[in-house]
Amino acid sequence: MDLTAYLHLPPEELKARIQRARREKEAVLLVHNYQRREIQEIADFLGDSLGLAQEAERTSARLIVFCGVEFMAETAKILNPEKKVLLPDRRANCPMAGMIDAESLSLARKQYPDAVVVTYVNSTAAAKALSDVCCTSTNAVRVVRSVMDRRILFTPDRNLAEYCRAQTGADVIPWMGFCYVHDGFRITDVEEALAAHPGALLLAHPECRPEIAARADLVCSTTGMIHFVRDHTEEIRRRGIIIGTEIGLVELLQADHPDLPLYPLASSAICATMKLTTLAKVAWCLDHEANEMILDDEIRRRAYRAVKRMMEIG
Ligand code: 13P
Ligand code: SF4
Repeated sequence: MDLTAYLHLPPEELKARIQRARREKEAVLLVHNYQRREIQEIADFLGDSLGLAQEAERTSARLIVFCGVEFMAETAKILNPEKKVLLPDRRANCPMAGMIDAESLSLARKQYPDAVVVTYVNSTAAAKALSDVCCTSTNAVRVVRSVMDRRILFTPDRNLAEYCRAQTGADVIPWMGFCYVHDGFRITDVEEALAAHPGALLLAHPECRPEIAARADLVCSTTGMIHFVRDHTEEIRRRGIIIGTEIGLVELLQADHPDLPLYPLASSAICATMKLTTLAKVAWCLDHEANEMILDDEIRRRAYRAVKRMMEIG
């Protein structure tokens, strides 16, 4: 049956197929926090980039279906070359990962021969292969601290680079990439949200612009936000929380805490490629073991060093 036929199946049948196939094929569904609600609901593991990479490293499953974007599935493959890693929609890329290519990074390495290259996991395997160490939004500051005796070329996210510089005082040369979803938040969004919900706390992802991060009560990864909301106090409940990240996380939090006043910083903050994953594509991809991630072995081996060094920092 081709994908088009799956698109006509009702959700309950798709879920039953996914259940059956994942049992029979010893598959695990790793799901990023920005996925659609119906995909979040069928996750074996739901998390942020670091949590998903850690889960990919420790799983004993034969097959990993990665419900997220390409760089996440690539990272799972880098860590697990012997496992099959599938991406339900091959078009699910992260535009920021396309903002750095191997050729430009090689040139930059020549321009800054003494710099250590720290690369955000939101990058291609080829960029990781030319880097000294990777990081995610959870451990970026820790990674920068571990190498800040040297000048740092931080790629590709300029906002995360600036956040790390501000937190550590490290000598950071930023690459000029950005996430269109988080970089799109403006101070006017903060002012409007605070005017609508006076006294509310603001959580912001470190991919946001520095002026947004500076106004936030807490800057953290998506899992950091989940933990903050889970551990809320009575005072926080009274004040409410504005969530400065992609809308999928807000929907997840609202589903888990229906009584808490939680507000999106902007309801237009949607990562279009994260939403490409649907139940029909997951069922089809699992049944046919389609869309397998294949990496050049030399690139994978070199990228592994940078990813593994990050995993050891934690
Ligand atoms: P997290 O690692 O915080 O989930 O972020 C991933 C991402 O793509 C943010 O835009
Ligand atoms: Fe990439 Fe931004 Fe989407 Fe995250 S939210 S996957 S950084 S485009």
